[in-house]
Amino acid sequence: MTDPRGTELYRGKAKTVYTTDAADVLLMHYRNDTSAFDGEKKAALVRKGLVNNHINAFVMSRLQQAGVPTHFLRLAGPQDSLVRRLDMVPVECVVRNVTAGSVCRRLGVAEGLPLDPALFEFFLKNDALHDPMVNDDHVLAFGWATAAEMARMRELSFKVNGVLKGLFAAAGITLVDYKLEFGRLDGELLLGDEFTPDGCRLWDASSGERLDKDRFRRDLGGVVEAYEEVARRIGVDLPAGE
Ligand code: TMP
Ligand code: ASP
Repeated sequence: MTDPRGTELYRGKAKTVYTTDAADVLLMHYRNDTSAFDGEKKAALVRKGLVNNHINAFVMSRLQQAGVPTHFLRLAGPQDSLVRRLDMVPVECVVRNVTAGSVCRRLGVAEGLPLDPALFEFFLKNDALHDPMVNDDHVLAFGWATAAEMARMRELSFKVNGVLKGLFAAAGITLVDYKLEFGRLDGELLLGDEFTPDGCRLWDASSGERLDKDRFRRDLGGVVEAYEEVARRIGVDLPAGE
């Protein structure tokens, strides 16, 4: 590849970010490491890095075609992608189409209830604090983002929903919820981080079978097999390898 991996800039729970020869381009290496419950539960799952790297590349390209600005540039190896370097906003944006996970725990509502309109929530990205939910006023008061940036993150998060609900529905999959992160580049907000089954909930539309990281959280087994099934159904070409 033309961009050799430079020095390690940041090691997350599932990806490592490296510098490249170009100051404004980073290399994201998708590891097989998988974590849940804010890093309390961990495992290495063979082929997960490769599968997620390719699912992400496919989804990011579809989002770009639909007019969502993203940091994604191109695949750069089985577990590597090149992305634009962003100044990340330290909040996570979650969109929910169906109740599951923390909204059920927080509000005592049943799992599986359709949400129409879809629900948008901000969470502070902080594992030590277990990513607490925050509202617009927290984001403003602590200077994590401006009002205009919040409005843009909300707008782009719903635009992503419009594209991806349809993409997954056509593959017989319900997009239950997902987490997005955004970053700044030249005064604009771009979608950063990743879109993979590690950061969303995907249920088989007819059986309700979990095809996402809940398989790992709940010890259901077949985690990477489920991610590969998602890839196959939405039309991602996966190379051989680990
Ligand atoms: P939650 O139900 O735990 O709030 O998560 C909602 C969705 O967002 C779920 O698909 C998992 C994803 N998510 C992450 O991937 N990382 C996070 O730190 C958070 C808060 C959510
Ligand atoms: N909170 C996220 C999850 O459970 C990420 C993590 O726990 O590491 O998927």
